[in-house]
Amino acid sequence: MKRTHNCGEIQKSNTGQEVVLQGWVHVRRDHGGLIFIDLRDREGITQVVFNPAVSEPAHHAAKELRSEYVIEVKGVVAERPEGTVNPNLSTGEIEVRASGLEILNPSKTPPFPVEDDVIVSEGLKLKYRYLDLRRPGALAPLKLRAAVVRAVRAFLDENRFIEVETPFLTKSTPEGARDYLIPSRVNPGSFYALPQSPQLFKQILMVAGIERYYQVVRCFRDEDLRADRQPEFTQVDLEMSFVDEEDVIGTIEGLFARIFQAVKGIKLKIPFGRMPYAEAMDRFGTDKPDLRFGLPLFDVSAIVRDRPFRVFQTVLEKNGIVKGLNLRNVSGLSRKDLDELTETAGGFGAKGLVWIKVAQEGFESPVAKFLGDETLKRLSDAFEASPGDVILLVADQRAAANEILSNFRLALAARFGLIPADRFEFTWVTEFPLLEYDETEKRLSARHHPFTRPADSDVALLDSEPTRVRARAYDLVLNGTEIGGGSIRIHRRELQDKMFSVLGIPAEEAREKFGFLLEALEYGAPPHGGIALGLDRLVMFLAGAESIRDVIAFPKTQKAVCPLSEAPAPVSDQQLKELKLKLVL
Ligand code: AMO
Ligand code: AMP
Repeated sequence: MKRTHNCGEIQKSNTGQEVVLQGWVHVRRDHGGLIFIDLRDREGITQVVFNPAVSEPAHHAAKELRSEYVIEVKGVVAERPEGTVNPNLSTGEIEVRASGLEILNPSKTPPFPVEDDVIVSEGLKLKYRYLDLRRPGALAPLKLRAAVVRAVRAFLDENRFIEVETPFLTKSTPEGARDYLIPSRVNPGSFYALPQSPQLFKQILMVAGIERYYQVVRCFRDEDLRADRQPEFTQVDLEMSFVDEEDVIGTIEGLFARIFQAVKGIKLKIPFGRMPYAEAMDRFGTDKPDLRFGLPLFDVSAIVRDRPFRVFQTVLEKNGIVKGLNLRNVSGLSRKDLDELTETAGGFGAKGLVWIKVAQEGFESPVAKFLGDETLKRLSDAFEASPGDVILLVADQRAAANEILSNFRLALAARFGLIPADRFEFTWVTEFPLLEYDETEKRLSARHHPFTRPADSDVALLDSEPTRVRARAYDLVLNGTEIGGGSIRIHRRELQDKMFSVLGIPAEEAREKFGFLLEALEYGAPPHGGIALGLDRLVMFLAGAESIRDVIAFPKTQKAVCPLSEAPAPVSDQQLKELKLKLVL
């Protein structure tokens, strides 16, 4: 028999037709001689009725059915009797009266019901991901992901990009994580590195005259995992020749407009806003500000500098800062609430939290007597506070204060319900510093990667004041998450050499690691630049998913384990021998 319909499409208009359905038994209910099956496939659920008066053998066979059995049913579409219509089901007005049943495959009792609202541990869900994915709620993000990729390919193809695959068995690409290494059997003692990104190859493709490249590509990074990180993840990676920042940014804005139109029916407002890195750090304490709500930060060191409050004095004397934010319209906050907020800030590393309640009658604060009325008034003015507001201040070294306050700001927004639902706030963050001083390694490192081009006017500072050199880099931030990053690249050998020397990478080491790129730069490399978007993160937003694992078919756990296949796993002695590897555990 051949399947005539799927389980989501049969309507009243099909009444009287004979149909053949194939799918999984969702539930079975026995009702006084009648057996009802909710039959499920990818597209939906159809109710099937087994009535001995219609077919004795089919009814008899239906007694065997259990959840998740795979079956084939033949029957006639009929309107459901009065009072049994199910308005929650696309097929809720009809049922199929079965005349035939074949069990294609029985099933063991699943470890959890295949239903959207059951609570199951993530480990169990991932171990039986094939059962989990039978839930419409689990499948939806994967369908959405496919739709996004379809829109990406269509847009980039129209814009003359060529999709090119770059190697997975390759050499290390420095993107700031550890490499996943693959031993080479035919070259004992040598290893491939799985790419952290196609960065080097896409630049080589520009030297090769491809002009516009893209790839929907897996990247591999051995780093600490979080809710929005996976050891293997997918980038929409692209690179363009003869371009500047505006070309790349414009292309990406067009691409996002297309994606949002295609999968959400939303007309995005482009161009997106832009914010220099320094402003992002100043106002939000982070280079990935969430702009769906206010709560900007202000540095009030100058206002409190001369006040006899030891906590602030001590920090300011050590070149620290006093910075904070104004929580508006929270006059009902009790002492207990404020203690909780202090604890929340403490969880992010704050050594304390000064609060100032602004009321009609005046200010209330545990440190009011140290700060004095005049300073309290100036603070209130600086934060544009009005009665009902509470000003919250943290004193610490600049980097620490920014980190604490950026996290605290997000926690406050969540706690006080300031984050609007269904809002997509994009911003480009620009004018990053090219280099930063790594305190632990005691040397300069590249903020993005060492192939990013410095602003032309800053090249002269590379020797004298390297940390002041601005990069021609741009990150795309969506609702407080970095969903893309890129730059205009160095396309001249001399400047690339200079960059390595500023980074303290000896010429010999640079040649060993990146010699192929350095050499290519000497054969007519065009000016070029590009960007990579984090596809998983983007789909997470579009799907409203909590975790990156929800948008990946077979994700890894926080410990980089695949519960389904149980990778990673030990290998046989024979394999180790062939690879000439010895384990030292
Ligand atoms: P970058 O390292 O910023 O740039 O990566 C680009 C984007 O990839 C996403 N991303 C991740 N997503 C999930 N899990 C991870 N572990 C992970 N790491 C990164 C982020 C990020 O913005 N070659 C450069 C791009 C370029 O310069 O063109 C690069 O890889 O959304
Ligand atoms: P203490 O002197 O530790 O009792 O602190 C006095 C007040 O200052 C308390 O309200 C603390 O919460 C607050 N406080 C202490 N350290 C800091 C800090 N680094 N930043 C902001 N407030 C602080």
